[in-house]
Amino acid sequence: MQKKIVETSFSMGTFDELNESSKNLVNKAKEQIEKAYAPYSGFYVGAAVELENGEIFAGSNQENSAYPSGLCAERVAMFYANAQYPNVPVKALAIAAFTNGDFLNDPVTPCGSCRQVLLETETRFEKDITVILYGKQKVYVIDKVRELLPLCFEKGSLNG
Ligand code: THU
Repeated sequence: MQKKIVETSFSMGTFDELNESSKNLVNKAKEQIEKAYAPYSGFYVGAAVELENGEIFAGSNQENSAYPSGLCAERVAMFYANAQYPNVPVKALAIAAFTNGDFLNDPVTPCGSCRQVLLETETRFEKDITVILYGKQKVYVIDKVRELLPLCFEKGSLNG
């Protein structure tokens, strides 16, 4: 057997180092925290999606007493955007999370199911989505969703 190594690259910096449109998107994600419904986890997440036509759609996590029925902020925002504009590519996504009275110090990273959904949108429109992960002390910027999901299952995988 041959050992293979998969590398992921991303940029790390601070909020102040982001360009203006990324700062704006992060701020939109942060604003969503107030609309999150997270009575079970107390972990409030906001996400904002920017389309190529300049529209921004934002969403927050929506929990449920039957836990798996809830949905993460990223999927709420992304499905909302795709449902409103099924023919417009997504340019960027920002995520922020808040718990115990404050935003996280380190960037919040999307769960596996969200990565899968984000990848579908990236692939569907053949347009890289910049992912901006906010933390108070550190911010990560990832050039495309594919970086977040090596060895992924996708459309082509269905052909065997
Ligand atoms: N959550 C998100 O909304 N996005 C993430 O990236 C991580 C997790 C939500 C799901 C659940 O409502 C709560 O955070 C705790 O897992």
